[in-house]
Amino acid sequence: MWVREKDYEEICAYLGVTPNPDLYRKLVRYVADRCNVEREQRGFSAYLSDLRLSRSRLVPLDLLTRFIFPDHPLRRILNAVIALHECNDLGYRQMAAAGPGWFPILTLVREGGRFLLSLLITIPWSAWHYSVYKLEKAWQSKDTLRGKRVLITGVNGGLGKELLFHCLRQGAHVIGTLRTEASRQELERCLPVSASVTLLLADLARADALVSALERAGILPDALDVAILCAGTKYDETSVLDMGKLRETFQVNLFSAVEFAGWFLADTQRIAPTVPTQGINSSPADRFRPRKRLVLVSSMGRWHGMPWTGGYNASKAGLSIWSESLEQELAGTDGSPLEVLIVEPGIFESRMPVRGLGRLLSISSDRVARHILQALAKGKRIIRPPLWFALLTWAICLGGRSLRCRFFRKAVRGRGDDVGRCETSLSDHQCR
Ligand SMILES: NC(=O)c1ccc[n+]([C@@H]2O[C@H](COP(=O)([O-])OP(=O)(O)OC[C@H]3O[C@@H](n4cnc5c(N)ncnc54)[C@H](OP(=O)(O)O)[C@@H]3O)[C@@H](O)[C@H]2O)c1
Repeated sequence: MWVREKDYEEICAYLGVTPNPDLYRKLVRYVADRCNVEREQRGFSAYLSDLRLSRSRLVPLDLLTRFIFPDHPLRRILNAVIALHECNDLGYRQMAAAGPGWFPILTLVREGGRFLLSLLITIPWSAWHYSVYKLEKAWQSKDTLRGKRVLITGVNGGLGKELLFHCLRQGAHVIGTLRTEASRQELERCLPVSASVTLLLADLARADALVSALERAGILPDALDVAILCAGTKYDETSVLDMGKLRETFQVNLFSAVEFAGWFLADTQRIAPTVPTQGINSSPADRFRPRKRLVLVSSMGRWHGMPWTGGYNASKAGLSIWSESLEQELAGTDGSPLEVLIVEPGIFESRMPVRGLGRLLSISSDRVARHILQALAKGKRIIRPPLWFALLTWAICLGGRSLRCRFFRKAVRGRGDDVGRCETSLSDHQCR
């Protein structure tokens, strides 16, 4: 279990204390040391660990972890937040203010009432979630990542970090890549010492950086079962005519995936651009080798243009179409050694710039990570979480080019003046 900053803020709101970034850092370190990912929760307790925290959910979770699951990591997290804030000036004052004060009897009645109310909420809440847990268990695929070696790019934040923690919880060994030494050190601080992770540095804006980093670490293509290429870059307030940024965006979002896939497949020698039928002569033993999985994180933005994002949508369109082409080439060979899962998410919360309307439509990166791992377990080939966002995007796309132009220009409203001026000069040509 790990504590996202948002979870910490929800816990603070629930406890009536003000969030403090220094205390949050201490909490993350404590959770990494004490709430070890290897001390795996099972059954309903594991299901509860997976729930995103919110003030209303904390009422039943507090009660359940107090009386039924006292060893649950959430109990330790709640106690740690209380202890950390009690040792802080402001936190201590805020907690003391919630104490008995001058009217102990009134306080006793108030606390008793609160407890009864919590109980009234907790009983139906637990019954509902227990049924959901049982249903999920019945439908869930048994194919988890236990014992698998999973490569994830961009593990220091956003979706990549969520995927990292989910894969660790499922028992995978993760080879994670990040761009800078500083982000490696920061991530290491919130990982338990025993976490099964290898962290490599690779700046994907440089040609062949990912493959070189893996080779330097002595990792062979056959040593990887699953590769999730999640890292991506998006420039804000940048015209598609900016060649430098466009090149970089394509290198990170598309070309690094092409370079990696070539390396990942190299040992199989089943796919060669000039000899598409090479795999037909492969030995029967080869044909039954376990498949490798390649997950490519594209975007729903690949279905339409978007102004001022430095060609991000174009690079994702390239990635989606390229991966479909790869899949088609592989399907032509006998017993394809690689399964491709294309992920085209809608907007989700991360550090990636999102403007105007986009913010209102975003879902959590945790939800997208879960969708990806479920799709992987079920052997799906494409997912677009959440579905309603995909339907909305397609509806706008069907409205025609002029509607798309008007809609997406409005959707990114709120940029700086420089962009506004530049936009005016270009818009005359674009929106006719
Ligand atoms: N957020 C959305 O709404 C959304 C929607 C659809 C698709 N996606 C896709 O989802 C994926 C994850 O994005 P996110 O939203 O989680 O964004 P994020 O929080 O900004 O994470 C992006 C990751 O990519 C890494 N990265 C960027 N440039 C890199 C480079 N040159 N070399 C190595 N690593 C680099 C970042 O590392 P640094 O921290 O060092 O920059 C970071 O770890 C991306 O492929 C994105 O295109 C996002």
